[in-house]
Amino acid sequence: MKHSLRNNLVIALSILVIAAAIAQGISSYQLCRAGMSALLDLRLEQVAVRMHNGFADSIPATPERGSQPSRDIVITIHRPGSEVPLRSTDPSLRLPEDADAGLSSEQVNGERWRIYTLRDPGTLIQVAQRSSVRDQLERETALSTLWPMLVLLPLVLGAVLLIVYRSLRKMNQLGMEAQGVDASHLKPLPVAGVPTELLPFVGSINRMIERLAQSIEAERKFIADAAHELRTPLTALQLQADNLQPHIVAGNQERFKELRSGIARSGALITQLLRLARADAPLVSDTVEATDVSKIVVDAVSDVLPIAAARGIDIGAEEMSTDKVAAPAADVAVAVKNLVSNAVRYTPDGGTIDLCARTQGNMLWVEVRDTGPGIAPELLPRVFDRFFRANLDVEGTGLGLSIVKAITGKYGGEAVIRNRSDGRSGIVAAVSFPLAEAPAAKSPRVAQKQNGGVAEAERAVAPHHLHGRDA
Ligand SMILES: Nc1ncnc2c1ncn2[C@@H]1O[C@H](COP(=O)(O)OP(=O)(O)OP(=O)(O)O)[C@@H](O)[C@H]1O
Ligand SMILES: [Mg+2]
Repeated sequence: MKHSLRNNLVIALSILVIAAAIAQGISSYQLCRAGMSALLDLRLEQVAVRMHNGFADSIPATPERGSQPSRDIVITIHRPGSEVPLRSTDPSLRLPEDADAGLSSEQVNGERWRIYTLRDPGTLIQVAQRSSVRDQLERETALSTLWPMLVLLPLVLGAVLLIVYRSLRKMNQLGMEAQGVDASHLKPLPVAGVPTELLPFVGSINRMIERLAQSIEAERKFIADAAHELRTPLTALQLQADNLQPHIVAGNQERFKELRSGIARSGALITQLLRLARADAPLVSDTVEATDVSKIVVDAVSDVLPIAAARGIDIGAEEMSTDKVAAPAADVAVAVKNLVSNAVRYTPDGGTIDLCARTQGNMLWVEVRDTGPGIAPELLPRVFDRFFRANLDVEGTGLGLSIVKAITGKYGGEAVIRNRSDGRSGIVAAVSFPLAEAPAAKSPRVAQKQNGGVAEAERAVAPHHLHGRDA
């Protein structure tokens, strides 16, 4: 079983409460029985004294046999020298006349009796009660004292649970917050409302998060600076290669082409590194602009349309939500374009690429479906790793999806890559961003404007769709 402070506290406190309740129950039961026994003894004594003070005449001289309820006490009055009692509430019962004065317990007619004997020179008064009747009375009375505790016990246990839960709630909240801390979410844990005992703990975690954020930021800045610094000499190299082109002799053209594509690859790597560094940069402000995704999807399709057309790839957008997302247009565009560029790059000639943007709950999802080779299931969990490439036959830096992940994570969205599940080979790559405005909060005026927007988006997408498909 997992070691849980809450479980340990609940179990320990519950055992303590139950043990205290049992101890209290046993002692109150026994004390009550003893008290009841003393009361019943006192009653026997009082009745005997009253008989002695002249109340004996109230007993009928010849009571009917068996007329007395078994719970009642039996009173017998003797005159010394006489065989039969002078008065008795139950003449069939012969109490031992030689019993000790005061209280005693005797066996009579096969039953145990508690007897009070009052003896004086002229009279012997005995008042007796069955021990079984006394036991029953004592038990019933003692048991009745346990009821309040039996009712209170579950209430106290419930209160214990509630107190433990409430006391540790803040700790659970902090645990959840700490779970959400990763390289893209390095916010300090909130200290408001944290119990004083936990403050040093939360303080040291926050200092650690700060140090981590500083070192990640330093690393990011280094990558960004290095990529930036490399860009200038690479551009110069590119220019020189362009100038050299006419002077390359025919036999060296092939090798020169390789040199140029090497320069182009390095250029692409630098661009991706810069994009990654930018995507990894922390958010500077809490408010982000609202972005129309449909326009970005249309742009992404337009960008690749010439290549797609040349390769006979049928590319088009279907469903197109016009909701706005809470993320900057530049970043959303980088994420969408990376997915579209992957789809075009990895889909063989004559394939199909479908795009759609749809709102689900508070998120807007952009989905890119292709008919490429897909990705081996065992490699899927690694596609978002930096520099990971599942297919070495096609050129790439292995940074595109890391950039997509960093961008979506930064704005509270998700990036998902899975193989198609409709029987065709290919990838479904999707990114989500939170809506700029929660769906329930939309005013009718905004909704109307967006309806207009849908038609506009459809008009904008349709020509590209047809063009791509016709090509
Ligand atoms: N649509 C796709 N179909 C098949 N494989 C894909 C697809 N998208 C990505 N992959 C695989 O996932 C790997 C990682 O993709 P990612 O976009 O991160 O890098 P890349 O495309 O190689 O390089 P870059 O995008 O930086 O130019 C790719 O190398 C490729 O093997
Ligand atoms: Mg890519």
